[in-house]
Amino acid sequence: MAELGQSIFDILVFVLPLYFGNAAPTILGGGPPIDGGRYWKDGKRILGDGKTIRGFWLAVLVGMVIGFFLAVIIASFDGVLFGNPPIDIRLEYQEFYQSSIVYSLISFLNLPDVLADPLVLGGVAGGLSTLGGMTGDMVGSFIKRRSGISRGKTFIFLDQLGFLILGMVFVYPVIPWPPLWLAFLVPITFLTHIAANLFGYFTGIQDDPL
Ligand code: CTP
Ligand code: MG
Repeated sequence: MAELGQSIFDILVFVLPLYFGNAAPTILGGGPPIDGGRYWKDGKRILGDGKTIRGFWLAVLVGMVIGFFLAVIIASFDGVLFGNPPIDIRLEYQEFYQSSIVYSLISFLNLPDVLADPLVLGGVAGGLSTLGGMTGDMVGSFIKRRSGISRGKTFIFLDQLGFLILGMVFVYPVIPWPPLWLAFLVPITFLTHIAANLFGYFTGIQDDPL
């Protein structure tokens, strides 16, 4: 039981920057759309007005900042146990970095290993996962427009999981996460996304309940 609690804590620390980054454009987005208002061959918008340049980059920035500050908080708790059964407040994914392709490359090329600093690693991992998340979000909109689903309408599974999958892919070269994490992340992300959207709907932040 204690180990399950620890694993859930470790996975949440890893994924929280992506969650916050992905949610950020709903509040911070707007302005010129990424597709420049252009249309695809099928006469529909390439991505639509829901995908803006500002939303994309502010999301990445939010992911980076949250990743960095989570690492700062965790560094200040270094080695502290919390709760009963006890959970070790730690940045577990830091250990995975040592077996990453980026770490191998840095060692092989004898480059300065800036990512060895957990605060830098936190920012980079948060930024990279959110960059992937926003790319997945864009791919999702592209697929939605091609399927004739208009901007803001729900495409179940794609809306909730597209950003997670590409987010996980983008961060993998730096943090080679264990595949088993997906068994937790896929259902939790799906449910959290739906809960967050319902909250957004009832508080008037967004128009569609899902
Ligand atoms: N948003 C943004 N820029 C992005 C992504 C999102 O500005 N790159 C903002 C838009 O205001 C968007 C809102 O966040 O309406 C919610 O995002 P999302 O649900 O992904 O977009 P939808 O409006 O539902 O559009 P789509 O159907 O294309 O997913
Ligand atoms: Mg939407």
